[in-house]
Amino acid sequence: MADSYILKIFRGHPTHQYWEEFELEMVPSANIISSLMEIQRRPINRLGEKVAPVVWESGCLEEVCGSCSMLINGYPRQACTALIEQMINTTGQNTIRLAPLTKFPLVRDLIVDRSRMFEDLKRIHAWIDVGETSSNSQPGPKIYPEKQKVMYQLSTCMTCGCCLEACPQVNAHSAFIGPAAISQARLFNANPVGYTQRSLRLRPLMEEGGVSDCGNSQNCVQVCPKNIPLADSIAAVGRDVTFQALNDLFSFPDREE
Ligand code: SF4
Ligand code: SF4
Ligand code: FES
Repeated sequence: MADSYILKIFRGHPTHQYWEEFELEMVPSANIISSLMEIQRRPINRLGEKVAPVVWESGCLEEVCGSCSMLINGYPRQACTALIEQMINTTGQNTIRLAPLTKFPLVRDLIVDRSRMFEDLKRIHAWIDVGETSSNSQPGPKIYPEKQKVMYQLSTCMTCGCCLEACPQVNAHSAFIGPAAISQARLFNANPVGYTQRSLRLRPLMEEGGVSDCGNSQNCVQVCPKNIPLADSIAAVGRDVTFQALNDLFSFPDREE
């Protein structure tokens, strides 16, 4: 194990970004967050200058909240589960590059504003209105185990933004909503109660920036840390959107996924 390693961080604010290097002592089991905490304690760069501490976002520290997502050696992933020693062994280099995600507005250093993802969830009605049934003590409708299994996996999305970062269709010139929200529409439509409000989820996905803007490159599937079957979700929602459009035109009878 080497004695030290270098974190090369693309930091700054929206109008000025620059690379800055920090040399850190190798600590067994260190991850990117613990290394950033070390820099926060002792913000001295490789040139020996005392600088403003690097800022980043984190919460759960166990790859559940998605807030620590950043580009690590150019790959979108969570900093809390990125082990220093493992990365150095994999790349054979003792420098690790950190940069903020590029598909979201930069706040400062490694923090970006992922609000668009939460706004998109509101747009596609990513919840189930229980209404009067919330005070009803009767069990809810049955869901078969095979379907539960799929729904559980879809429900693990942590809105981390990695799939949007990797998606070529998500860019400054496109209104594409991205795969995460599409997959959440599939999740809530798969619930028998949620299914009754599927048109609220499908109609926004028929508009500009909806599911038909997906270019099917499947980059999103490659980077999703939760292994969510995003391509399946996009295909399923694509079919449902077509059916919804026909239904709106001709009022066909309902069908369930
Ligand atoms: S499959 Fe669609 S959503 Fe996924 S990365 Fe490609 S274009 Fe983006
Ligand atoms: S679908 Fe996967 S990559 Fe995309 S936001 Fe959810 S957890 Fe992150
Ligand atoms: S801190 Fe929550 S996913 Fe890393």
